[in-house]
Amino acid sequence: MAIRVRHPNFLALVVFSFLSIASAKVFFEERFEDGWESRWVKSDWKKDENLAGEWNYTSGQWNGDANDKGIQTSEDYRFYAISAEFPEFSNKDNTLVFQFSVKHEQKLDCGGGYMKLLSGDVDQKKFGGDTPYSIMFGPDICGYSTKKVHAILTYNDTNQLIKKDVPCETDQLTHVYTFIIRPDATYSILIDNVEKQTGSLYTDWNLLPPKQIKDPEAKKPEDWDDKEFIPDPEDKKPEGYDDIPKEIPDPDAKKPEDWDDEEDGEWTAPTVANPEYKGPWKAKKIKNPNYSGKWKAPLIDNPDFKDDPDIYVFPKLKYVGIELWQVKSGTLFDNVVITDDPEYAKQLAEETWGKQKDAEKAAFEEAEKKKEEEESKDDPVDSDAEDDEEEADEAGHDSDADSKTEAGEDSHENKEDVHDEL
Ligand SMILES: *[C@@H]1O[C@H](CO)[C@@H](O)[C@H](O)[C@H]1NC(C)=O
Ligand SMILES: *[C@@H]1O[C@H](CO)[C@@H](O)[C@H](O)[C@H]1NC(C)=O
Ligand SMILES: *[C@@H]1O[C@H](CO)[C@@H](O)[C@H](O)[C@H]1NC(C)=O
Repeated sequence: MAIRVRHPNFLALVVFSFLSIASAKVFFEERFEDGWESRWVKSDWKKDENLAGEWNYTSGQWNGDANDKGIQTSEDYRFYAISAEFPEFSNKDNTLVFQFSVKHEQKLDCGGGYMKLLSGDVDQKKFGGDTPYSIMFGPDICGYSTKKVHAILTYNDTNQLIKKDVPCETDQLTHVYTFIIRPDATYSILIDNVEKQTGSLYTDWNLLPPKQIKDPEAKKPEDWDDKEFIPDPEDKKPEGYDDIPKEIPDPDAKKPEDWDDEEDGEWTAPTVANPEYKGPWKAKKIKNPNYSGKWKAPLIDNPDFKDDPDIYVFPKLKYVGIELWQVKSGTLFDNVVITDDPEYAKQLAEETWGKQKDAEKAAFEEAEKKKEEEESKDDPVDSDAEDDEEEADEAGHDSDADSKTEAGEDSHENKEDVHDEL
């Protein structure tokens, strides 16, 4: 169905009958049709520890088209690493679009759903968590705190996380994640063809030192008045103010009947707080007519800033890979595309995810209904049993999840460390 045309410069120009954009350069496209295994290399990473997970070639338990398969993680508590090579290219002077779909059929409690672009020469058999990469992009979920889209750019050998928060999808359906980097150093992140974040590589990552900094030499001028309110000079202390006592004899107190002045001494009423007493006098506050505002050091050009007009450039992109730790398996990847044309990627998403999403949702709801029915069939005697079972099940999952999450978070942290170190 797809006609592949080899360009003289080895950029695969893929033209689909239903995609009208012929000008798009498609550097890589994988729809996981027959023959996909010849294009992807499964890494031996973690194999000797028996922790390398197997991929399942499937459309999943619910889908919009049973014949449209992808690759799905199929074993719990496993590391996954697989990659594909494409003709090396640079995105200099061009837009770079990196897109794929991902579905977490398991209720993902801790695990990634991201992909990576790698540069230069990579030993694909050894591809793993420590392999340097250029871009890491996609959803990452762990516990309640991490539910975000990672967008990590490697600049000057350092992995830099996006500084803006981009929440990811958390349901059990297919979603399309798109990362666009443009030659003007702007970017966009889309989920299901809807823009979720956009901005500049200069400001949303710490790739370069800031262009401007506060002048370290600047000092607040002596006559700078930064008091917004001052005591009203017109306000005068009322006469006799200081004569008002803090405490007064309790007006309600009565000398006890059996009080004997001779034996008990002269009776004095106990004292109480004086309601007239308002504390030491203070002039009321007024707006300071001379207020100059809060003082801020002026910004100056940062002497450490050296612009890099190639800040967005990855000159030797050559591999796409998936490298994950999964506590619970069931994450399904499909429809990977690397192109220079956002419109091409958008149409591809519409033709795949867009066409299938309603049927997939219906299939998912059907599967959920069936599961509920099965669960109530298992124990038809006691009507409470269903709830009990669910609770027990949940409790089981929870304790399970606890130990899993711990391991998962460890690994996550390790990974973050790796990010930070690299
Ligand atoms: C692969 O996925 C299908 C569909 O969800 C499932 O029926 C099958 O058991 C899976 N196979 C493995 C080896 O996990
Ligand atoms: C690149 O990294 C080196 C070593 O960490 C550092 O000294 C240098 O300033 C960095 N250059 C830029 C442009 O960030
Ligand atoms: C405001 O500034 C002027 C000039 O320095 C000064 O004479 C005046 O007392 C100031 N007013 C107040 C309320 O501080």
